[in-house]
Amino acid sequence: MALVNTKEMFQKAYDGGYAIGAFNINDMEIIQGIMGACADLKAPVILQVSSSARKYAHPAYLVKMVEAACKENPEIPVALHLDHGSSYELCKACIDDGFTSVMFDGSSKPYEENVEEARKVVEYAHKYNVTVEAELGQLAGVEDEVEVSDDNAQFTDPNEVQDFVTRTGVDSLAIAIGTSHGAYKFKPGQNPKLRLDILQEVANRLPGFPIVLHGASSVLPEYVQMVNQFGGKMPDAIGIPEEMLREAAKMAVCKINVDSDLRLAMTATVRKYFAENPSHFDPRQYLGVARDAIQSLVAHKINTVLGCEGKA
Ligand code: G3H
Ligand code: 13P
Ligand code: ZN
Repeated sequence: MALVNTKEMFQKAYDGGYAIGAFNINDMEIIQGIMGACADLKAPVILQVSSSARKYAHPAYLVKMVEAACKENPEIPVALHLDHGSSYELCKACIDDGFTSVMFDGSSKPYEENVEEARKVVEYAHKYNVTVEAELGQLAGVEDEVEVSDDNAQFTDPNEVQDFVTRTGVDSLAIAIGTSHGAYKFKPGQNPKLRLDILQEVANRLPGFPIVLHGASSVLPEYVQMVNQFGGKMPDAIGIPEEMLREAAKMAVCKINVDSDLRLAMTATVRKYFAENPSHFDPRQYLGVARDAIQSLVAHKINTVLGCEGKA
């Protein structure tokens, strides 16, 4: 199947009470690991590229590898998405390169600027059948949530969402309900919490509209432990409990972003491999086991968090 935009996959996910995994890609092994799991489990998937991943791999490479992955796995729908596009120009460049979905992230800009630039991106994207995600509210940092517990400034304000979606014409909306980027989302001893009440309030204002969750890695303890056992230092890395993510996926959340979990699985596996095979120096050996780890991590996400097995 050729690359698709996110329209139909989100519609089906919304109606079916599940979510699509949006996995960050940086290289061939990550793409192949993700695609292997999704093809095995017949799961639709979003492969997303941050601007730093695009710089790292050079713009054309990831697009070409994703096209190859689609050719090799024609039975599953795949969207190629720009993650956290910071400007109209970057969104346009990715659309021109063949991306089928883009995020314009104006969440740190004043509201009216966010509206104006998102609207401009939508105007260009829709001409090419490309879907657009935007963001309202900024992901809470751990400290903000804990120490200023009554400060809701970081969370999405449900009173703004209808106006924003109507004026911009975006196809999906990322909201801030207590997730955060990276591997340190909560402090040890802190009760992990997601504001599902805000999600419900947003869903009430936008019936049938797809919501996106960023910063949604669960930071699997077995991989944290493996990193630490084999010479790494990631004490107190804590993610979002999987049952909370599953709950959000049953609600209006149609896209769940995962990057840190992929990094962690890959790093833990490579560390273990080097520790156990000190004489090996063929990159295909350690990158091969890293690719297998990505595949089993993604299969785990599909089964425990996303619920999208067999939905391709
Ligand atoms: O949301 C951020 C993603 O994890 C991408 O991170 O810019 O380091 O590629 P990156
Ligand atoms: P994590 O850091 O929780 O994996 O979030 C990734 C993300 O939101 C990419 O946009
Ligand atoms: Zn993100």
